[in-house]
Amino acid sequence: MNSTPLIAPSILSADFSSIAEALSRIEDSGADMVHLDVMDGHFVPNITFGPKMVADIRKRTSLPLDVHLMIENPEHHIDAFIDAGADYLTFHLEAAVHAHRIIQRIREKGVKAGISIVPATPASALSELISFLDLILVMTVNPGFGGQKIIPECIKKTGEIAAMLKVRGDNVLLAVDGGVNRETVSMVREAGATLLISGSAFFQSADPSEEVRFLKGILSV
Ligand code: DX5
Ligand code: ZN
Repeated sequence: MNSTPLIAPSILSADFSSIAEALSRIEDSGADMVHLDVMDGHFVPNITFGPKMVADIRKRTSLPLDVHLMIENPEHHIDAFIDAGADYLTFHLEAAVHAHRIIQRIREKGVKAGISIVPATPASALSELISFLDLILVMTVNPGFGGQKIIPECIKKTGEIAAMLKVRGDNVLLAVDGGVNRETVSMVREAGATLLISGSAFFQSADPSEEVRFLKGILSV
């Protein structure tokens, strides 16, 4: 088993009319970051929110903001999300031809750069980018909605990426996003994930700090 992973609850599963409450829930739980899912209705079939939401959340919490862009043409919007206060800014490889240029742009601005891949994209697609990244986010469901079941093949892929990172000795966070809960967490951690994103499991839990301890492996089922 790997060392204790970081936990980033996704506000996608929160009540959008009570975001301040959602942030308190995250802070009080002992989670490490806030995961913000930005969807444009094109790259994914759902629409969430834009940079203003990120900026408003930035004013309310000192936790790092992990912004996950599920949008087409991410290069048109990265500056706005950086200005809004993103600490980690992740875009999808499938939405970018010039991924390397976008990574450079994000890092030049002093923000950590991440790439995400959907279930259909193989681990090998990342091979030319790994050494430029701060975070790799493996989607373990098809992006767009919370509350879906994890796709087991994506856990295998997470293991392949963990092995790629180990060979290179790079200090890159390996995030897993989608269907992470107390039933699936041990598989995900065994595969080598170091950042676990949790939407529905975290927000549906009666005891969020217990949920975080389950996800970190401090408690087991
Ligand atoms: C889905 C999002 C996820 C989502 C995870 O497209 O990227 O961050 O909130 O939700 P759960 O944990 O419910 O699968
Ligand atoms: Zn996400």
